[in-house]
Amino acid sequence: MAGRIITVAQQKGGSGKTTIAVNLAVALRGRGHSVALLDTDPQGSMGRWFLERLERLGEDAGLEFSTSSAWGASYESEKLKKHHDFVIIDTPPKIDSDLRPALRVAALVIVPVAASQVDLWATEGVLDLARREKCETLIVLNRTRPNTRLVGEIAGKASELGAEVAAVQIANRVAYAETLGMGLGAADTARSPIARGEIEALADEVLSWLP
Ligand SMILES: Nc1ncnc2c1ncn2[C@@H]1O[C@H](COP(=O)(O)OP(=O)(O)OP(=O)(O)O)[C@@H](O)[C@H]1O
Ligand SMILES: [Mg+2]
Repeated sequence: MAGRIITVAQQKGGSGKTTIAVNLAVALRGRGHSVALLDTDPQGSMGRWFLERLERLGEDAGLEFSTSSAWGASYESEKLKKHHDFVIIDTPPKIDSDLRPALRVAALVIVPVAASQVDLWATEGVLDLARREKCETLIVLNRTRPNTRLVGEIAGKASELGAEVAAVQIANRVAYAETLGMGLGAADTARSPIARGEIEALADEVLSWLP
């Protein structure tokens, strides 16, 4: 099996990297794909999420978790992709040469941008780095307030940065924050069908970008 590697990266803290990484994993898992999560962020949020999930739902042979250093990301993910359909790499909120191994191996780099001007400014660094590594990159607007003028403006400016912007936007919803703390994804529960729909649509869009 030669799985596809998806890296979630953005230097701005709290933009939604871990949220998008785990929600995407749950959605792909729900479609029957096996998924390996790789956390290169020493904060370890993805690992906490995984342990919560393990306690709540028990083991799932199709969802694995491991950690690596930033520079070990390419070796580790190449190894994981031999046994999984997808490897999803979560990265820390900083931008330096350490990020390169996680970018270099990715079939797609997802860059979450919490919908504000400052977050957009912070995005240029990771886009430059991804461009130098010749990565396919997809900006995902997160924490949007749908149908506001701001989100329209940010979406417009994001598209001027020279990377693709996902048609799907992830809105600011309590369901994302709640499920993250519980080791779940929006696609696990029927409680927030709108969040679930957003994540399923994101998964569709991400799959359409993968070779
Ligand atoms: N769409 C959303 N709606 C509501 N809350 C969200 C959304 N996305 C993220 N959050 C919340 O924002 C906070 C930061 O999200 P998250 O941890 O995913 O960001 P991050 O980019 O991984 O942060 P860090 O840079 O620290 O790793 C969390 O409390 C999370 O629950
Ligand atoms: Mg994180």
